[in-house]
Amino acid sequence: MSKPRHQQAISEPTDFGEGQYPHALVNVTNVCNLDCRHCFVFRADNPQSPRDKMNDATMLHQLEILRDKHGIRSMLFMGGEPMIRKDMVLEATKLFPESAIVTNGTYGIPSVPGHLVTVSLDGPMALNDPIRGDGVFEKVKKAVYDRDPTDGTTVMLQMAVTRENAPGLEEFLAEVSEWPINGVAFSFYVPVQNDETGLDWKDLKERDKVLDRVIALKKKYPHVVKSHIPTLEMMKSDVAINFTGEHGEKCILRRDTLPLYMGDGGQFEKPFCCYGNDVDCRGCGAYAVFNRAYLASEGRGQASRYGRDGAANVAAIVEGASE
Ligand SMILES: C[S@@+](CC[C@H](N)C(=O)[O-])C[C@H]1O[C@@H](n2cnc3c(N)ncnc32)[C@H](O)[C@@H]1O
Ligand code: SF4
Ligand code: SF4
Repeated sequence: MSKPRHQQAISEPTDFGEGQYPHALVNVTNVCNLDCRHCFVFRADNPQSPRDKMNDATMLHQLEILRDKHGIRSMLFMGGEPMIRKDMVLEATKLFPESAIVTNGTYGIPSVPGHLVTVSLDGPMALNDPIRGDGVFEKVKKAVYDRDPTDGTTVMLQMAVTRENAPGLEEFLAEVSEWPINGVAFSFYVPVQNDETGLDWKDLKERDKVLDRVIALKKKYPHVVKSHIPTLEMMKSDVAINFTGEHGEKCILRRDTLPLYMGDGGQFEKPFCCYGNDVDCRGCGAYAVFNRAYLASEGRGQASRYGRDGAANVAAIVEGASE
């Protein structure tokens, strides 16, 4: 029988050194109700056992200690599916000046006034559901329409663009541009080394054509699409490596963001980067990587991202939206 919360032992966090990280992400659980084809969390090399759990009191305590030790200002709550631990996550959002939750939307959309909720959808129903599961598109749409749009939460949709769902970009935008949301963000697939999923672009020149279509969508729906055109240009095949490096050595996201995965025995582990271990930086499509570089080039590297002040400038760490 599990002990009441007040009797549960509270352990101290793993020692991640003295580095300062203005941003962090935390996988609050390795449990998920979906099994998406492209998901980096459940790759073989990553900590991911659903049995590994940290109790609520310990997680809140450890996040507070890590916040103070590493100077964390913004926290991205992820999983697995973070809404499986909704009460704890809502409590934990209060620990940080800027919090964002990335959710699959199937448990409804949480109300976090002044903060950002990013809801994942990977294209129109015909392309989303083979990736995220039958009925998921309609469930998420219902959740979007059921929420109170005046509750002060910034709600964005995010599409993780792969070689498979890229054909649906225009159809997706035509539909969701009518929804009561604050905008749509695009991020691109982050491959594993020797990726054999067929979801990546072996030749990045092929991805350039998709980037051009996102740029065209930005021009068509400037207030809905939250991508910066200069950032999308920085993702092009001729320059992308300048912002990632072969092994993440140029990646600002890797430098300024502490990834906290739920590791063995329910203690946090820090993988290679937010996308886990064994990633192939040469094909990295994480919008946030390039947007961080863009914002830094504009002298806006310290811009507020998730909080009330940053509501017009939201940029989720993994998926990265902006202005
Ligand atoms: C790992 S999920 C965790 C939160 C929640 N379960 C969800 O699906 O939103 C966070 C985001 O990462 C995206 N994602 C998963 N695998 C990816 C990959 N290989 N490359 C790029 N984005 C990916 C998902 O589509 C989702 O938007
Ligand atoms: S819902 Fe999120 S965590 Fe779950 S499998 Fe899909 S992308 Fe991964
Ligand atoms: S986020 Fe950075 S370190 Fe991680 S795969 Fe992308 S470029 Fe590499």
